[in-house]
Amino acid sequence: MRVLGIETSCDETAAAVVDSGVDDSRHILAERLFSQIDEHAPYGGVVPEIAARSHLDRLDALVAETMAQAGLGFAELDGIAAAAGPGLIGGLLVGATAAKAMAMASGRPFLAINHLEAHALTARLTHGLDFPYLLLLVSGGHTQLLAVEDVGRYRLYGETEDDALGEAFDKAARLLGLGFPGGPAVEKAAEAGDPARFRLPRPLAGRPGAGFSFSGLKTALRRAFEALPAVDERDTADLAASFQAAAADTLADRTANAVTLFRRDCPAGRVLVAAGGVAANRNLQARLQKVAAIHSLDFIAPPQRLCTDNAAMVAWAGLERLRLGMSDGLDFRPRPRWPLASTTDVA
Ligand code: KG4
Ligand code: ZN
Repeated sequence: MRVLGIETSCDETAAAVVDSGVDDSRHILAERLFSQIDEHAPYGGVVPEIAARSHLDRLDALVAETMAQAGLGFAELDGIAAAAGPGLIGGLLVGATAAKAMAMASGRPFLAINHLEAHALTARLTHGLDFPYLLLLVSGGHTQLLAVEDVGRYRLYGETEDDALGEAFDKAARLLGLGFPGGPAVEKAAEAGDPARFRLPRPLAGRPGAGFSFSGLKTALRRAFEALPAVDERDTADLAASFQAAAADTLADRTANAVTLFRRDCPAGRVLVAAGGVAANRNLQARLQKVAAIHSLDFIAPPQRLCTDNAAMVAWAGLERLRLGMSDGLDFRPRPRWPLASTTDVA
C-alpha cells in the first residue's frame, strides 16, 4: 500500500510517499521538505499570511519532485493524505485543497489527517511499534501525555494549561537573543552552560496528575535575565542550561505520573514514546530515557527529522487509516483546532 502525504500546517512545506508491504515492512519511498524559517525569521515567529502564500508557491513543485523521486505515477498510489488540522488555517487549506484535487483527478481516496495523530503514530513507521504505548507529545503548539491505544483511540492524561513547551523554548530563545526557531538554539547554547546556576521553578512538579504549565517558568527566566547587570555569553549559556534543566525536570515528573496511569489502563504497554519537535532535544531525550528505565519501559524517539514537522508522518497516518478502510469526503473542512483526544472514530 502506498500513500502520498502533504504537510502544510505551520511553516514547513513537505511531501512524502510511504509504503507498507504484506510482511509489515515500512518504507519512506521519497520525502521533500522546504522550511520557511528564513522567511519568518525577520519577524521572530511564524507569520500566517506569509506561511500560506509560501506553501501555495512551493507545494506543486515539491509534490512533483517527491513523485519523481519515488518513481511513481498517481495511478500507483492507494491514497492521498494531507494534514487537515490543527494548525494555521491558510496553510491547511492549501495542503488539503491540493490533496483533494489530486485525489479527485486520480480517483484515489483522500485522507484528512490530524497533525497530532501523525506525530503520535510516527514511532510505528520508524520502529514498527505495537499498540498500546505511552506518548509524550511535545511540539510548538502542544504538550500532552496520552495513551495511544489504537489508530484513532487516544486517552489523554494531561496537557498544558498555558504555553506549549516548544513555545516556551521559542520565547526563551527570543529573550536570550538566540534567534528563531528557539528550541535548537537554546539546546546549543545550553551545551556550554551551568544548569545549576539559576534556580528556576519546576511548575506543578510533585503535584498529582500529568498536566503541565510553563508560563511561570518563562516569567522566572525573564526575571533572572533582567536581574543581571549585563548579560554576556557565559550568562546566556547558563540561563539556557538552567531553563532546559527545569524543562527536563518538569517533563520527568509529569511523565512519571502518567506512567502510573498508563500502567493502570494498559498493563500490556511496554514503551514510552516522545514525539513532536521538542522531542528532538537530546538533553530531554536522555532524561526521558531515565524515567522510562526506572519504570521498566523502553524509550523511543523517532529520528530528529521525523520528530519535527514532516510529511512522512502524515503519509503514514494516512496509510494506517486507509488499511483500516477509512477515508474522508472531499467536503472535509480543515480545522484550525482539532484535539487529538476527540479523534476517537474507531471503535
Ligand atoms: O512539531 P514541530 O516541528 O511543529 C509543531 O507542530 O509545533 O515543533 C516545533 C517546535 C518549536 O517550538 C521548536 O522550537 C521546538 O519544536 N524544537 C525544539 C528543538 N527542536 C525543535 N525544542 C527544544 N529542543 C530542540 N532541539
Ligand atoms: Zn508538529
